[in-house]
Amino acid sequence: MIQPAIIDFDVFRDEGLHADAHARLAELREASPPVVWTPRNGGHWVVFDREALETVLTDTDRFSSSRLSVSPDAPSVPMIPLSLDPPAHAPYRNLLLSHLGPKEVRKLEPFVRAWAERLIAPLASRTSCEFIGDVAAPLPVSVFMDMMGLPLERRDEFRGYALTAISSGDDAARGAAHQQIVMALAQLIGERRASPKDDLISALVFDEIDGRPLADHELMSICFLLFLAGLDTVTNAMAFGMRHLAGDPDLQARIRADRSQIPAMVERLLKLYTFVNTVRVATGDTELAGTPVKAGDALMCVLWTGSVAQEGARHMAFGFGPHTCLGMHLARLELKALYETWLDTIGSVALAPDQTFAMHGGNVMGLKRLDLVLS
Ligand code: HEM
Repeated sequence: MIQPAIIDFDVFRDEGLHADAHARLAELREASPPVVWTPRNGGHWVVFDREALETVLTDTDRFSSSRLSVSPDAPSVPMIPLSLDPPAHAPYRNLLLSHLGPKEVRKLEPFVRAWAERLIAPLASRTSCEFIGDVAAPLPVSVFMDMMGLPLERRDEFRGYALTAISSGDDAARGAAHQQIVMALAQLIGERRASPKDDLISALVFDEIDGRPLADHELMSICFLLFLAGLDTVTNAMAFGMRHLAGDPDLQARIRADRSQIPAMVERLLKLYTFVNTVRVATGDTELAGTPVKAGDALMCVLWTGSVAQEGARHMAFGFGPHTCLGMHLARLELKALYETWLDTIGSVALAPDQTFAMHGGNVMGLKRLDLVLS
């Protein structure tokens, strides 16, 4: 066993993360052993090493998903299937896969594309935009709200709750945002039970698990997770990806000349800018990469360092192991539709000069704004 190394790292408030999340993580990884302890947010491990990440994310007996935030005081709302370990996890995962698998998602393509066109078309006549407010935030949220049957007029309000619930360093603010989401979903579930529509919540109301319908608390938990998992992640992927594209005119020329390169570009950008830090908790005293870990210790898995560890290796943007993202087919479709529609509509794009890139940390890291010059 080796003596645990300690760093002073607050994943919510670290100034380096707020200035440039990936550069800061690179700096920390460079200076730290594979697994280090930080006393911040109640004290937790930070896992940087690809092999250690694979172990934590696949060895569900030793590392449980039951705790979703490093902070012990964080509101703990159960999220099915994310916070379940095997064997309880699989039936719910299979149920959701029947709605979010590749075949189901392919059916959504025309409607995702229509949203992309609707949001990007107004930019054709403009010379600049703030990409997150204009496209990256409303596009996935609109798709998602439609798919779930949430009222579109409350789009910005719901996105605000999701953002606070994931990224705020203030436990009380996170708790209040959770409450707002639960209230909105409870109302919607009640409405759909009484009068079903053609949306995902109505379908879930009639789904069965082990031969019985989902109980109200299960339905709420699933919807709550979909809400948090599906709103802000795609926005961040779009923002990081577009920032890269805007800074790389050669890449713009290449995908314009050959659109079949877009899916590979999407994967490359997800790898380069992986932005989720996911959490596990040790089920007993154990060791990881030679470091002693105690029962109940939380571990923050920095997926970005896992993604960029080896050139040829599969990225970890969507996680690794049994909880690998169930929304990845939808996310990929949205990203592809974004870039294709962008090429159809916008000539070329560049980064507005002199901007600093403010970011937020937390379980899901993201850019706050992105100013672009269009021509
Ligand atoms: C680019 C966009 C996205 C990224 C980067 C992303 C990332 C992730 C990651 C890293 C995990 C694994 C977390 C863990 O192991 O603890 C995950 C799980 C999950 N994601 Fe995503 N996600 C994205 C979009 C979506 C969307 C659009 C949806 C919903 C439609 C979604 C639904 C889920 C669900 C339900 C899980 C839990 C899976 C399970 O526990 O078996 N995600 N996501």
